[in-house]
Amino acid sequence: MSRVIDGKAVAATVIDKVKASSADLQAAAGVKPGLAVIIVGDDPASHAYVGAKGRMAKECGFTSVQHTLPADTGQAELMALVATLNEDAAIHGILVQLPLPGHLDSDAVTQAVLPEKDVDGLHVVNAGKIATGDLDSGLLSCTPAGSMVLVREIHGKDLSGLNALVIGRSNLFGKPMALLLLAANATVTIAHSRTRDIAALARNADILVAAVGRPQMVKADWVKPGATIIDVGINRIDAPEKGEGKTRLVGDVAYDECAAVAGAITPVPGGVGPMTIAMLMANTVIAACRAAG
Ligand code: GUN
Repeated sequence: MSRVIDGKAVAATVIDKVKASSADLQAAAGVKPGLAVIIVGDDPASHAYVGAKGRMAKECGFTSVQHTLPADTGQAELMALVATLNEDAAIHGILVQLPLPGHLDSDAVTQAVLPEKDVDGLHVVNAGKIATGDLDSGLLSCTPAGSMVLVREIHGKDLSGLNALVIGRSNLFGKPMALLLLAANATVTIAHSRTRDIAALARNADILVAAVGRPQMVKADWVKPGATIIDVGINRIDAPEKGEGKTRLVGDVAYDECAAVAGAITPVPGGVGPMTIAMLMANTVIAACRAAG
């Protein structure tokens, strides 16, 4: 059986450090980190994530502001809110929860957030810094940064000689994850919906990262024995075994069968998820420290 990578426990150590930095900043400079989250529409899963982010921000001693806008909010109104938050000195981090309703231009909104307040790491300035190997002066996208912390738990900082496969090529996760693995000296392949034989690529991967949003897609015969699996998927599926109408959360990896082959694996829930929130808090305190000089 493989080692289970306990994202909850690792996230708790990150959060402890964030709380300490937040308290230090307040004591030394009188600055309280401020995080603003914008959510448009009423998707229940998005509201659950945003609620968890707000609660954690408060627990870290931050000012936490949530802007809940109706699903029919116009582009101009949303852009105006981002502009107001950009100018608000009490707000150090701005997160626009994705996906936005289809009539809104997500790119325009994410690029309107000031790079120094872009705690999601989605602005081209922050994405470009990762791409050029500057992992220090910008803000790293939260889920890839959190996933890297979990990879380091198993392999340490230097991934020289290891093959990594990232399944998924989104700007939010797959691309920055591949770049972070590359910066750590892994040999990186990105697979996606147009890739011919993902299973064959996966069988060659010492580090297998799945972020496709397809429940239990990665099977045991895709997994190289002893590999480290990072499962970024969060999918809700029917669970008739729990009773009629019940559901449960699963990742993009068929957990039980893959755990039997892998060397280490992240569970869902309790793996990457808690790390995303922890890294968001870390980015917010970093942004606040920089703003305080
Ligand atoms: N929706 C799902 N994950 C994320 C995330 O990390 N950031 C934002 N803004 N929206 C998301």
